[in-house]
Amino acid sequence: MLIIAIDGPAGSGKSSTAKALAKRLKLPYIDTGAMYRVVTLKAMQDGIPFTDKKRLMKIARKSRIEFRTAYRTASRGERDAVRQLVYLDSQDVTEAIRTPELTKNVFHIAQEPLIRREMVKKQRVMGLKQGGVMEGRDIGTVVFPDAPFKFYFDAQPKLRALRRYRELRAAGEQVTQAKVLRDILKRDRTDLTRKNSPLKPAKDAVVLDTSSLTIDQTVDRIIAHIGAKPLRDRRLGTE
Ligand code: CDP
Ligand code: CDP
Repeated sequence: MLIIAIDGPAGSGKSSTAKALAKRLKLPYIDTGAMYRVVTLKAMQDGIPFTDKKRLMKIARKSRIEFRTAYRTASRGERDAVRQLVYLDSQDVTEAIRTPELTKNVFHIAQEPLIRREMVKKQRVMGLKQGGVMEGRDIGTVVFPDAPFKFYFDAQPKLRALRRYRELRAAGEQVTQAKVLRDILKRDRTDLTRKNSPLKPAKDAVVLDTSSLTIDQTVDRIIAHIGAKPLRDRRLGTE
């Protein structure tokens, strides 16, 4: 199974690059952050306190998290993937999992070792099905430590915040740039310092600073790197 692992902090360009890369390589795109977001949403919807680990664990185990692709029929009748949708128990939660309020609460879920174990299990099943470009915080270190290709993205915090600010404004959120920067720095801290699966580059990851790269340029760099490896090395567990 071909797994390409991409890890890094918020706003470093993981999702947009992973999506574009998956499209070029005709591989599934797997957004693991969305999965932690879905469990957070369910906990908030059901009014479960973030201290009630037992009930949180139960929803993590029971929630059916799915990724579906929305297609548009292009000119020659070919299907063109336009958007990835996230479903929780057959309900489209693509937009609901991206609000700043929810984003602030994800760490409660992401710091729980048993919940992480459950998510990692689901992620491995998804990855082993058809391979994929998988992005998150612990893909190269924990989920697929044998992945043949691992990338760790980074970018200057101010730039990451500016990217996220533009995105939130475009989605109609009333936020300021300063607030988005504060939130990103806070999230960096919790992601980098948590006890369970903290954010860090895998020893064998290629580190890419995306500050002055466009999404296309980042995809090109990855493809150039992958192309440089012999074909027989491309599958999981063959290194
Ligand atoms: O898109 P953004 O970088 O803002 O965040 P995300 O990838 O949607 O992830 C949301 C949160 O989930 C992150 O702040 C991490 O704390 C957590 N996460 C994680 O712990 N492990 C992963 N593999 C992916 C996300
Ligand atoms: O997934 P992650 O939080 O790492 O970042 P993202 O969601 O892929 O990127 C955040 C925003 O920055 C998106 O609106 C991207 O279009 C933009 N971006 C960019 O302008 N240049 C890049 N090289 C990467 C992302």
